[in-house]
Amino acid sequence: MSNGKLISFEGIEGVGKSTTINSVKKILETKGLSVFCTREPGGTKYGESLRNILLNNKSVISPEAELLLLFSARRQHIEEVIKPQLAKGKWILCDRFIDASFAYQGYGKKVNIKKIDLLISNFTENILPDLTIFFDLPYDLAKKRFPKSKKKDRFETLDDHFFNDVYKGYLKQVNKNKKRIKKIDANKTKSEVRDQIICEISKCFKEFKL
Ligand code: TMP
Repeated sequence: MSNGKLISFEGIEGVGKSTTINSVKKILETKGLSVFCTREPGGTKYGESLRNILLNNKSVISPEAELLLLFSARRQHIEEVIKPQLAKGKWILCDRFIDASFAYQGYGKKVNIKKIDLLISNFTENILPDLTIFFDLPYDLAKKRFPKSKKKDRFETLDDHFFNDVYKGYLKQVNKNKKRIKKIDANKTKSEVRDQIICEISKCFKEFKL
């Protein structure tokens, strides 16, 4: 269909995904690649409005209803953004994708993993990341990086037990998908983290040369 690529970035809160994605984008662009950054939940007008509901700490949403909202936003994102951008040959850098649903709703909130598999096989049009970068930082270290002043969103108010389960869930995803998901050590400086990612991208894609 195209030579576009989808790279997703995963990890628990506080691992520094968002800032790193911007520095990775700059490096890919200096190599002449056309890059498009997006995020989940979000990335479309509809998805961003669902994001506001999902992150609002006044929202009362059950784990399964939450899973369906996330997949509704994801479906729109795939149709409106991901497929068209891949068709244009873009390198899409996506801040979270399907692995977050396994980690947060599956392992964190204990929604049956089979239900997540079912949503993926029916509603994501076989769109799987070409590469997923997992920012590995245990929760006790990530927690120290949480901004103290910021008002907590609906996920950030969850307890240590939840985030430890999410972290362990991510590790299970890494083990189940060793070819696609690459773990990087997020307990390093920003430039070291960025360099590890660039190294993984260069190993994965022949189109990208260091
Ligand atoms: P962010 O903090 O990376 O912007 O993500 C927003 C929150 O959404 C974060 O706490 C993780 C959560 N989330 C899920 O629980 N499941 C999902 O499938 C996705 C994409 C995000």
